[in-house]
Amino acid sequence: TSGGSDAAKRRAGESAAAEVTDGDVVGLGTGSTAAHAIRRIGERVDAGLDVRGVPTSFASRELAADQEIPLVDLDRAIGPDAPGIDLAIDGADQVVTAAAGDAERAGASADPVNALVKGGGAAHAREKLVDAAADRFLVVADPAKETPVLDRAVPVEVLPAGRSVVAEAVRSAGGEPMLRAAERKDGPVVTDNGNLVFDCAFGAIADPTALSTTLSATPGIVEHGLFVDLADEIHVGTETDVRVVTR
Ligand code: A5P
Repeated sequence: TSGGSDAAKRRAGESAAAEVTDGDVVGLGTGSTAAHAIRRIGERVDAGLDVRGVPTSFASRELAADQEIPLVDLDRAIGPDAPGIDLAIDGADQVVTAAAGDAERAGASADPVNALVKGGGAAHAREKLVDAAADRFLVVADPAKETPVLDRAVPVEVLPAGRSVVAEAVRSAGGEPMLRAAERKDGPVVTDNGNLVFDCAFGAIADPTALSTTLSATPGIVEHGLFVDLADEIHVGTETDVRVVTR
């Protein structure tokens, strides 16, 4: 629900949906851009495409069910003797690309890291499970998401009982945690998994790999929204076409 125009998001989503082939198990991402991909996959299913979808959230499950895309449980899609996920299509809140930088590359390395910030919809724990398990992970984005250096607050899903100790650990790692508040309820956002979310401001993240490792090693953190070295392609929709960045 953030970023650029709906037309740009639609071009990105439809470009990634065109990569799905007969027989695929497809990870279905969360957010307004991935929703365009899900709708296009639904149209293709209607036209005879044979796929099974693995939703990454309550919202993507509902949309995929509306589109009559056959679904498979995540737990049955990955693991020993499971078919696996051929392709995942998912959005991002921020993505490092070289193209983002040309004008503002001061401070960015020549070889940009393969890193995203996700979790604007608090779905990043399940998204990471699906996106990391997929043979190919296609990110769908628009130019407003591109940056030479990640600097968005990193969403961190936290066990409610670990809230104080995790907040302290985030501060020790140089971040400022803010408990995400619900919009139409007095109180916090509760994830699909029953946990809380801290949006953690670290400023410009010079080393996403190191920060990812630190957060992943913190007890009480269920999952964080830094996706490092997971993306295979980034489909950036613009007002006129789609640019595909390969990793
Ligand atoms: C969900 O938690 C996020 O990771 C989404 O993938 C991200 O917020 C992208 O959403 P939009 O496509 O709506 O910007």
